[in-house]
Amino acid sequence: MQVEATAPGKMILFGEHSVVYRGPAVVLAIDRRARVYVSRRDDRKVYVDADNLGFSGYFEDDVYHAVRGKVWRGRNLAALNVAAKKTMDHLGVESGVNLKVRSMIPIAVGLGSSAAICVATVGAVERLFDADLSKEEISRLAFEGETIIHGKPSGVDNTVSTFGGVLSYERDSGIKHHKLDLSMPFIIGNTWKKRSTRKMVESVAALKERNPALMDSIIDAMGGIAGEGLDALLAKDIHRIGDLMNMNHGLLSAIGVSTMKLEALVYTARQNGALGAKLTGAGGGGCMIAVAEEEKMSAVEKAIRRRKSESYRVQLTDRGVESRWIEEENADT
Ligand code: PMV
Repeated sequence: MQVEATAPGKMILFGEHSVVYRGPAVVLAIDRRARVYVSRRDDRKVYVDADNLGFSGYFEDDVYHAVRGKVWRGRNLAALNVAAKKTMDHLGVESGVNLKVRSMIPIAVGLGSSAAICVATVGAVERLFDADLSKEEISRLAFEGETIIHGKPSGVDNTVSTFGGVLSYERDSGIKHHKLDLSMPFIIGNTWKKRSTRKMVESVAALKERNPALMDSIIDAMGGIAGEGLDALLAKDIHRIGDLMNMNHGLLSAIGVSTMKLEALVYTARQNGALGAKLTGAGGGGCMIAVAEEEKMSAVEKAIRRRKSESYRVQLTDRGVESRWIEEENADT
């Protein structure tokens, strides 16, 4: 027998980058999930099979040994090693584990893939050893894994992936969960260009250093948009959400985190009937998101695909981390 755990990815609807300085950011769990299968080992190794992402290897005494794929992947995999090890330490068990990762969330494009994989890993390991950790504990242990990849993450990704639903985050007041009827689809356009959140945050900091007063007012405006955006979302006012997304995108462009490709997809979406479109996450590549009325949605998706980008619809989800015991042979490969 082994345990299967899944956890959702996320998208930032409003407030990326500005949230680094002032909040809020509005973050939604989406129905694309990471899946992790875990079983016990007789030794102390943490073996990670992420073959469909092109790599696998194992950690022995925290040293990575690549079995397939390049060694540089070791840093990403280290997050899983840490998440699994911290969970076992927390439970007071000494063991090794096999982790098989199968994620439907594309990596490094701003959809919360690494957090979801860490959350699913913790969820799977705690169930494997018959613990009954609270969601707060799962989120905290996953955060320790995330820290390996992102340095100083805000904690939003692991929280939304653990709990599901909608949340807003502000540096000073922390994370708030919001109740929302989740039947509102969004369109995602993926440029496929991977980027580093850390580098994008640094480039905004450098721009702010050179232009402090102007950047302060832009960041204030973005924070204001995010605050009103949260109200519009809770009121399910799709027209207002669209307006605010467009404004937010303009300011993200102004601070230099958009790209030609992202602009092309944003304008394509608007030209084909989207009420609002913006980049999501750190920018510099990655994904954009759009909202449209139901009858316009497939035209927007098709137009994005004609630009040689991936596009699909996502629904918000209130399903956070979930785990269950399964027979080995039922694990999809
Ligand atoms: O692209 P992501 O999902 O890593 O989001 C980054 C969000 C930023 O506001 C740019 C950084 C942060 O830590 O909040």
